[in-house]
Amino acid sequence: MNVYDGQRISSMLCGRGMTQTDKLGDADLIILNTCSVREKATNKVFSELGRIRDRKKPDSLFGIIGCVAKEAGSDAFRRIPELNFVLGPQSYHKLPQILDNPDAKLLNVDLSGLEKFDELAESVNAEPLAYIPIQEGCDHCCTYCIVPYTRGRELSRTFEDVVRDVHKAAANGATEICFLGQNVNGYKFSLADLIRETAKIDSIKRIRYTSSYPTEMTDDLIQLHGTEPKLLPFLNLPAQSGSPNVLKRMNRPYSLELYNEIIDKLRKVNPDIQISSDFIVGFPGETEEDFEMTCELARRIKYINSYSFKYSPRPHTAAALFTDQIPENIKKQRLVILDEILTQTNREFNESCVGRTMECLLEGPDKTGKHMIYRTPYMQQVIVEASPFAPEPPPGRAIKAPSAPPLEGGESSTGVSEPNNCAPDLRHDPPPSRGGADGAFIARPGGGSGASMTLQTIRITSANKCSLRGEFV
Ligand code: 5AD
Ligand code: SF4
Repeated sequence: MNVYDGQRISSMLCGRGMTQTDKLGDADLIILNTCSVREKATNKVFSELGRIRDRKKPDSLFGIIGCVAKEAGSDAFRRIPELNFVLGPQSYHKLPQILDNPDAKLLNVDLSGLEKFDELAESVNAEPLAYIPIQEGCDHCCTYCIVPYTRGRELSRTFEDVVRDVHKAAANGATEICFLGQNVNGYKFSLADLIRETAKIDSIKRIRYTSSYPTEMTDDLIQLHGTEPKLLPFLNLPAQSGSPNVLKRMNRPYSLELYNEIIDKLRKVNPDIQISSDFIVGFPGETEEDFEMTCELARRIKYINSYSFKYSPRPHTAAALFTDQIPENIKKQRLVILDEILTQTNREFNESCVGRTMECLLEGPDKTGKHMIYRTPYMQQVIVEASPFAPEPPPGRAIKAPSAPPLEGGESSTGVSEPNNCAPDLRHDPPPSRGGADGAFIARPGGGSGASMTLQTIRITSANKCSLRGEFV
């Protein structure tokens, strides 16, 4: 969701004649888009803000948006008095106010519901992959999670509004639609119906959704994975733990039997489907036996592209008050062990893809500009040799879009960058820069226009633990 928010802000500001820059010293406006799902991320934000203050141009505006802004509120101005704005995850559409009134201090951390989607309606990006949020907030109240506090109660956008955005994205050249929500499959007006409606659009070739909650996987949605060819064979279904005791204390009231049953059903309707998960290790009271159950689940399901985190106590959450917190060194050890298992299953799946041909979606050039990055239907990154061109950005004022720091010690990923709704942006790399504000690029010599090149048939030629290499067929 944070990646989506970042894209929206960027297109909102580009619509006002600004352009993105990678150079902090050039920027007229600097926005730190933040997440507070884990503590380390929050602490980092304020040290990063201090660094920005010391290096930016004296007259440029800077501020913070997202969950850390919501959590800090006016205290952010006390910590960094030079800040110009502090806007919560549901108020960032108010950002232009600071451009109109640069001498003001702008503070808004209200949970104003779905208002931002109406205000941002015109800023649908021209990207091959369009993220479309369908709900905001979460009512699940997992005892470790700060999201219900920072993003508020769960609200679903209307079916009509979402379908209108899907059509807009399609008209702007999107090939893939990814529906977003903290509890996306709990969408009040039927995610399955939304997928069916989206699949009717010819130019949309791939559909997916993230992030799902196990008990919201309806039979209708499960069946759709077997009948709708545009629905990708990849699903993020966070288990968090393989221990019934830990799940109970996390306030995730589903049994492992139910979780396994859902995966069995999905694999029955579509034997090709791959599952990813999020895990938390070292949750308060987690015993060695509990942790072994998590490892056992990971080995059995053979997840791909999964994320594992050390439990991090968060303000406003019940688990932060549990008295049986696990020592840091044990959390670290468990993270390493689980990560080894997840890396192994990821590597095995990647290796099993060598020799296969797949329709892959263009993501953009890599940092060197010598390769293009595509995504398989299972969300693996494929690197292909190519010579992109980088169009000149249009003239205008510059915005700095700070990139997310890489993964750190408290978290591991066997996958590649991919926004996940409950998810902190700090655990993901941002999508690679396109080298142009309009997102135009070209792949293969002799190829056609950018839009026609977004889906390519690629043969996988080699694999390692986290990515693939391929060649055009
Ligand atoms: N500590 C560690 N990990 C957390 N997550 C959410 N809250 C916490 C926390 N307090 C993880 C969960 C969630 C992902 C986005 O972040 O695994 O699915
Ligand atoms: Fe909601 Fe996901 Fe947080 Fe649980 S972990 S409260 S489902 S956002």
